[in-house]
Amino acid sequence: MEKEEKRRLRVVLVPGPFQGHINPTLQLGSILRSNGFSITVVHAQYSPPDPSSHPDFSFLSLPDTSSDFNFLTGNAFDFVLQLNAKCKARFRECLAEVIRQQGSDDEIACIIYDEYMFFSEEAAEDLNLPSIILRTSSASNFLARTALIQLKAEGHIPFPESRSQDPVSKLYPLRFKDLPLSIFSSLENLLQIVSKVSNSKTSSAIIHNTIDCLENSSLTKIQQQCQIPIFPIGPMHKIASASSSSLLEEDTSCLAWLHKQSCNSVIYVSLGSIAFMDVKELVEMAWGLANSQQPFLWVIRPGSVRGVEWIEVLPESLKENIDGRGYIVKWAPQKKVLAHNAVGGFLSHCGWNSTLESICEGVPMICRPCFGDQRVNARYVSHVWNVGLELESELERGEIERTVRRLMVDEEGKEMRKRGKNLKERIELRIKEGGSSNNSLNELIEMIMSF
Ligand code: UDX
Repeated sequence: MEKEEKRRLRVVLVPGPFQGHINPTLQLGSILRSNGFSITVVHAQYSPPDPSSHPDFSFLSLPDTSSDFNFLTGNAFDFVLQLNAKCKARFRECLAEVIRQQGSDDEIACIIYDEYMFFSEEAAEDLNLPSIILRTSSASNFLARTALIQLKAEGHIPFPESRSQDPVSKLYPLRFKDLPLSIFSSLENLLQIVSKVSNSKTSSAIIHNTIDCLENSSLTKIQQQCQIPIFPIGPMHKIASASSSSLLEEDTSCLAWLHKQSCNSVIYVSLGSIAFMDVKELVEMAWGLANSQQPFLWVIRPGSVRGVEWIEVLPESLKENIDGRGYIVKWAPQKKVLAHNAVGGFLSHCGWNSTLESICEGVPMICRPCFGDQRVNARYVSHVWNVGLELESELERGEIERTVRRLMVDEEGKEMRKRGKNLKERIELRIKEGGSSNNSLNELIEMIMSF
């Protein structure tokens, strides 16, 4: 009976137009759907989600802003600013359309929007609809990003190379080099976005895809700074039903290969959906992995190595060397890979989804952050949760070989695996009935029902 009542309420979700944002937003949709809400997803045309993966959601598209945007050459924050400038009017129309079509038994309860899609807040306000912010990166990243404005005002950024190892006051354990600056934008544009996403005026709450046992102190600071409730309901991929929201086709053949490997022996390597490498880095990585003598599963996205299509530049001698011991795919079913008992380590760029997915399976990490929030996450993985090692210098085969062996073979790695297992168990308790994430989710649902 209660579920029937909730089914009449519709939640409109507005994901950010990147894989790392679409995944958690659709996971949230699945969680709310299984709690009785109807779901409409209003998305950008750039990297749109696949409606067939969520047949029980409705999908509406925003206007084309820059569908040929390319991370390699483009400026992501300019793109986001442009998207926000162009989408507000159409978004209002979309909402009006949903309202026109709704019956008395299917009304919009609220808009939940990715923090980067901040045009949604004003449009919701214009139509007198409540809105909630969804933050898909870590809480610690949010604090570090917000601190950028003050650090800039105090003349600390941009910072000279000589200061890169210095700790940043009040942001322990971060150093200047860990600040979430972006290679994809000018500092001015970045700060303009930071100020937009930190200054919501009318939203009713903030959802964080995180867990208190990972980020209690950051969450407490955020709650002290803001007037509206925050709901840390993560890890959402563990709560949502298992449907995939991958924008690229997953090569599931790697699972059969994993079945043939022994327990905890494989290092999984992936730098997510938007990081790039040079040919030199690709070759160094390949030799480092080959020389480590550990089996490895490596995701290399087509187009992710500058100047080449895929792996045609890898020398034949190297391909022979890794024959059978290494498996390379264009895109993997990552969550299934990390849950496989053959996988004993993850060499990752430390995007927040990858970090959470690894931690939730108790898989220790080698951190190779590329930009932005990844540096913050890498620092927490290696220096707060102590479940990973960071590759700090340029990608070099000897360093990669040594670090892989430290994680996969040495006592140090075994200790990290034990800590990882412990953390995984603590997180599992958080999402069970009575656990903190479960409680937050219930409070969030109550709030949406009360609008
Ligand atoms: C981006 C930013 O780069 C990241 O720093 C931010 O935290 C989120 O947005 P991305 O680089 O794609 O994300 O990294 P990540 O957050 O790890 O998201 C990647 C997602 O793609 C994960 O959910 C992962 O499971 C999935 N994935 C990755 C696959 O399904 N298959 C793959 O082969 C690789």
